[in-house]
Amino acid sequence: MSAGAREAGGTTGAASRAAAVRAVALVLGRGQTLEVALAAAEPAAADRPLAQALAFGALRFGHRLKRIATTLAGRPWQGLAAEVQALLLVGLFQLEYGAAPEHAAVSTTVDAARLVGAGRAAGLVNACLRRFLRERAALVAAADQKLEGRSSHPEWLVAALKRDWPAEAWQVLEADNEHPPLVLRANARRTTRAALAEELAALGHPSRPVPFAPAALVLDAPVDVRRLPPFLEGRCSVQDAAAQLAAPLLGARPGERVLDACAAPGGKACHVLEAEPGLAELVALDLDADRAARITQNLGRLGLSATVVAGDALDPAVPDARPFERILLDAPCSGTGVIRRHPDIKWLRRPADIGPLAARQRELLAALWPRLAPGGRLVYATCSVLRAENAAVIEAFLAATPAAVDVTESASLAVPGLPPRPTPAGPGLVLLPGLAGTDGFYYACLERRAH
Ligand SMILES: C[S@@+](CC[C@H](N)C(=O)[O-])C[C@H]1O[C@@H](n2cnc3c(N)ncnc32)[C@H](O)[C@@H]1O
Repeated sequence: MSAGAREAGGTTGAASRAAAVRAVALVLGRGQTLEVALAAAEPAAADRPLAQALAFGALRFGHRLKRIATTLAGRPWQGLAAEVQALLLVGLFQLEYGAAPEHAAVSTTVDAARLVGAGRAAGLVNACLRRFLRERAALVAAADQKLEGRSSHPEWLVAALKRDWPAEAWQVLEADNEHPPLVLRANARRTTRAALAEELAALGHPSRPVPFAPAALVLDAPVDVRRLPPFLEGRCSVQDAAAQLAAPLLGARPGERVLDACAAPGGKACHVLEAEPGLAELVALDLDADRAARITQNLGRLGLSATVVAGDALDPAVPDARPFERILLDAPCSGTGVIRRHPDIKWLRRPADIGPLAARQRELLAALWPRLAPGGRLVYATCSVLRAENAAVIEAFLAATPAAVDVTESASLAVPGLPPRPTPAGPGLVLLPGLAGTDGFYYACLERRAH
């Protein structure tokens, strides 16, 4: 191992690089999510923070770095093995964006090539990184000639954002590359936002409230919540402020029966229960049994109860055929609103995914609508910023469903101080990253005419 391989803080430089490379290669080569890939890469505890930071950074800025890597390697991107792609992204990320001394970044990445079983590529990686240091300005300028490089997003997504949000696309692209803040939700059953803020401050974690999300606190600096007493003792959860709008928009009232049709891991279901203790029942349904088990865990931590069901929202008999006064459909989507938290989405999502996702969203909406009691409200939500999954789904549904009324405007009065809306508006409420300081989200509130 070279001299630069051991860094301050006791972490082994090459080992953390190797873990980052393994994780990035699993995303690029096998299509795994970064969360799953990082767990599979199994960094030692001391290496984990750096491995995580490098993997996130390499994927976040990877579309820019990929253009540089392709020039340096003199080969098309697809001609490089996933491990080599990952070594180049992790290496270049450190040189262009990292704080480690350049020689240490190069030597530890070359050492990492051997640790991940790509020793034969060590020479190529070494040559590419050293040439980058010599020719940096010209290489970066060439990469930035295309928007894919400048924005570090895949071309298809840049085009889709420019088409859907001509005025705001650049703000969205820039916000996607930022480090997201840690946002907590105070559990109204056990504390208040002000009391939680005081408790956090006393623990050395100052925070600030979000004006339009009454339970939300943004921490000044990230912290591992798994070590935080208010989290462990169920006084708060981790949830972006945009996701905290679902419960007030749903507006569930005492005595009502609520269905959260796509509920796992239970973030929004738990918020609905915290906000309204007097519900007749909340059914938290999810297709994925493993994910449904996480709803039960979260309910337990927060001291809440619900009927948790592993089943298909398309099945009208699950869990029974009785109507619901409120239905939340937090539909499976492209996740293009949460790229700042999940930079792997830039790599995993394909343009061909959007049509089938929208078809599934339309299908879920059509299947759930008849289960809504007359006079009841259904909230359709996604963490996508693409029109095809949002306004277009709702426009088609409203056109085909005379009994449905779009009440998003009046429901939004329950959340005063909302950030500015982008244009063109269309039905529903859109939050774009970069405009609101939140993740990107979409909500449409639909009521069923009583007669
Ligand atoms: C966006 S996530 C839900 C997040 C959740 N509402 C929260 O706030 O924690 C979408 C969920 O829909 C579930 N899902 C997808 N298709 C489904 C179906 N046909 N029936 C029920 N759940 C489904 C997925 O398993 C996934 O957990």
